[in-house]
Amino acid sequence: MATHYYTASSLDGFIATEDNSLEWLFRQDIDLDGPMAYPAFGAKKGALAMGSTTYEWIVAQENGKWDYTSPTWVFTHRQLPDKTGGGEVTFTQADVREVHAQMAEAAQGKDIWIVGGGDLVGQFHDAGLLDEVWVQFAPVTLGSGSPLLPRAIDLELIEVARNRDFMCGRYAVVR
Ligand SMILES: NC(=O)c1ccc[n+]([C@@H]2O[C@H](COP(=O)([O-])OP(=O)(O)OC[C@H]3O[C@@H](n4cnc5c(N)ncnc54)[C@H](OP(=O)(O)O)[C@@H]3O)[C@@H](O)[C@H]2O)c1
Repeated sequence: MATHYYTASSLDGFIATEDNSLEWLFRQDIDLDGPMAYPAFGAKKGALAMGSTTYEWIVAQENGKWDYTSPTWVFTHRQLPDKTGGGEVTFTQADVREVHAQMAEAAQGKDIWIVGGGDLVGQFHDAGLLDEVWVQFAPVTLGSGSPLLPRAIDLELIEVARNRDFMCGRYAVVR
């Protein structure tokens, strides 16, 4: 069982614009059955965690539906409504170590996916709980926005691939 951060990023290290737009991402071309694409990655995950901005973005999409089948923990200090329409979601402000233990139990041997944003992933890293970082770099710079991973972390490149418009890297956290 390992804990992975999987995300798309601009070349200059942002995962969303300042107004939380992903338009720059969705206009890129990707082969969903191709190397390091999301469906195969997601299928191996048994539990997910994300911050409230990411959660609210997902459930606000016009045609968006909650297509995560694994139990998901949403970090927030607020009382947020469950808008997943049947997803298995837990809102929490508990310590990441405590939540990670719950996620590991729920994942039943599968891997854990920290969806984002970057600071939440950093909190898992601070607790020594982050094993791998998978980044799909889109051929665009944004200049500003939500940071990919606002920490100083040494990583080892363990896999690299091109998927159409994307340069895909898989990195292990060096401890
Ligand atoms: N490019 C991609 O593939 C990709 C992937 C993931 C996300 N995104 C996007 O990137 C952006 C990320 O936004 P973001 O950086 O603001 O991050 P976020 O992690 O989604 O949300 C941050 C919020 O999470 C809550 N939070 C974080 N740590 C917490 C803790 N320890 N305890 C309780 N609550 C905690 C706080 O919410 P409260 O204010 O509710 O307390 C905080 O304001 C979003 O627009 C998202 O859609 C893009």
